Amino acid sequence: MRNPEYPIHPQFLDRWSPRGFDPNCKLTEDEVSTLLEAARWAPSCANDQPWIFYREKNAASRALFLSFLTDANQYWVKYASHILIVCAHKLYSDDDKPNTYHAYDTGAAWMSIALQARHMGYYAHCMAGIHEDVIAQKLGIDTEKIEVLTAIAIGKLGSDENLGDKHKSQESPNARRPQNEFVIFA
Ligand SMILES: Cc1cc2nc3c(=O)[nH]c(=O)nc-3n(C[C@H](O)[C@H](O)[C@H](O)COP(=O)(O)O)c2cc1C
Repeated sequence: MRNPEYPIHPQFLDRWSPRGFDPNCKLTEDEVSTLLEAARWAPSCANDQPWIFYREKNAASRALFLSFLTDANQYWVKYASHILIVCAHKLYSDDDKPNTYHAYDTGAAWMSIALQARHMGYYAHCMAGIHEDVIAQKLGIDTEKIEVLTAIAIGKLGSDENLGDKHKSQESPNARRPQNEFVIFA
């Protein structure tokens, strides 16, 4: 399924987004910090580092973060070890002007987490299926200045036994469009 058209580092093919997480896996606090450290070193416009990651600190925040997800995500994320909520500053830190690259830069930071997770034997699964307004309200986020972007579920790959039929059928690395559909010689 994942046949590159040109040779690339195996880490890019080894990363994918499973839903069948192992309920017995628990990342340590240091492991979560290591994932966030990978995000820290992502490139960003003017090195402004607009990303913000909310991480769980106890069982109550874990339950709260889970409630931020749509039902279609909650039912499988509950077996993942850790949930991150991903936000970004919409304004540059030095002059408060709009930073139109805030989501672009935060996307790079998310990918760093996803690749670092694989290096540690874990998987990270990004989700747009979240309740942004509830997140902003419960976490006291000023949405004039900060955008709620996604959530990330992290853990060890487990079985697909708890997945619905549709998700079961999707539980493997998927394919990509050929380069000639998105690369334009100009
Ligand atoms: C911004 C973003 C939002 C996504 N939202 C969801 C989501 O809400 N639920 C879900 O199950 N997967 C979600 N995904 C996972 C994508 O479906 C997945 O990354 C895509 O199909 C490519 O597959 P791969 O990551 O396994 O290579 C999201 C991924 C990204 C990057």
